Amino acid sequence: MPEILLERPRHDVLLVRLNRPEAKNALNNAVRMQLAEAFTEAAADDTLRAIVLTGNAEAFAAGADIKDMAEAGAIEIMLRRTHLLWRAIAQCPKPVIAAVNGYALGGGCELAMHADIIIAGESAQFGQPEVRVGIMPGAGGTQRLLRAVGKFKAMKMVLTGKPVTAREAEAMGLVSEVVADAEVLPAALALAQTIAAMPPLAVQQIKEVMLAGADAPLETALMLERKAFQLLFDSKDQKEGMRAFAEKRRPDYQGC
Ligand code: HXC
Repeated sequence: MPEILLERPRHDVLLVRLNRPEAKNALNNAVRMQLAEAFTEAAADDTLRAIVLTGNAEAFAAGADIKDMAEAGAIEIMLRRTHLLWRAIAQCPKPVIAAVNGYALGGGCELAMHADIIIAGESAQFGQPEVRVGIMPGAGGTQRLLRAVGKFKAMKMVLTGKPVTAREAEAMGLVSEVVADAEVLPAALALAQTIAAMPPLAVQQIKEVMLAGADAPLETALMLERKAFQLLFDSKDQKEGMRAFAEKRRPDYQGC
């Protein structure tokens, strides 16, 4: 069985499912390579407008595969170059929605934080428990978490390894929305459909500017925003969107 499953619930939406139920979807090298490949291909596919990333009812992902790392040395870990595989997800220009049921721990929480929107089920748990096995987060868990929830919530999670509930995660800004467990995937797919109906150049510019701007000085970030805003006025979809508004009809976006 492949470690990830790819489906097209709609022609313009890709559904990526982690598929290691026997290991709570722990991220081994095969999973990471297959994820990187799927996101690289999705980035280049003009027919795709949104990606939903999910696990199963018990686990989104319970972290990097501990058994796969237990006896490794530092150079071996370095030579695995897993940051290049994560980068394929982080740099995907299409909007990514994580649909999280169950455990999102360690690398699983980090994977969810690679998404642009996180929909969580009521029973989901988010945590960075690496400290409990003698390491620390290594795929953004100290940095993306810090930026999402602030120093004091992030430090507590990372230094204790104690997970938070979906509701706690929502209150601290780590998830976009909490829904009933059974509604996670339908809600994520509905959101993907909504975003897929938007003009894709605008969607991609928004994602790029928000992510790049978040780590830039404000003046630089505002300049990035202004340039992207100006750029969109050369798209056919901008003309179509504004004309359709004035003519009181639905816009027909072409992605150019
Ligand atoms: C390898 C894992 C695993 C993991 C679960 N399994 N998590 N295997 N790596 N991260 C395996 C178990 O060994 C077990 O295999 C099977 O999945 C079912 O898990 P159980 O523990 O029996 O289930 P349960 O009692 O329900 O507990 C679920 C759990 C627990 C709370 C998620 O498994 C757990 O604490 N897992 C580890 C979580 C963790 O520490 N994550 C951080 C990893 S470090 P068998 O063969 O016994 O049936 C990390 C670093 C990221 O993520 C760095 C990125 C570069």
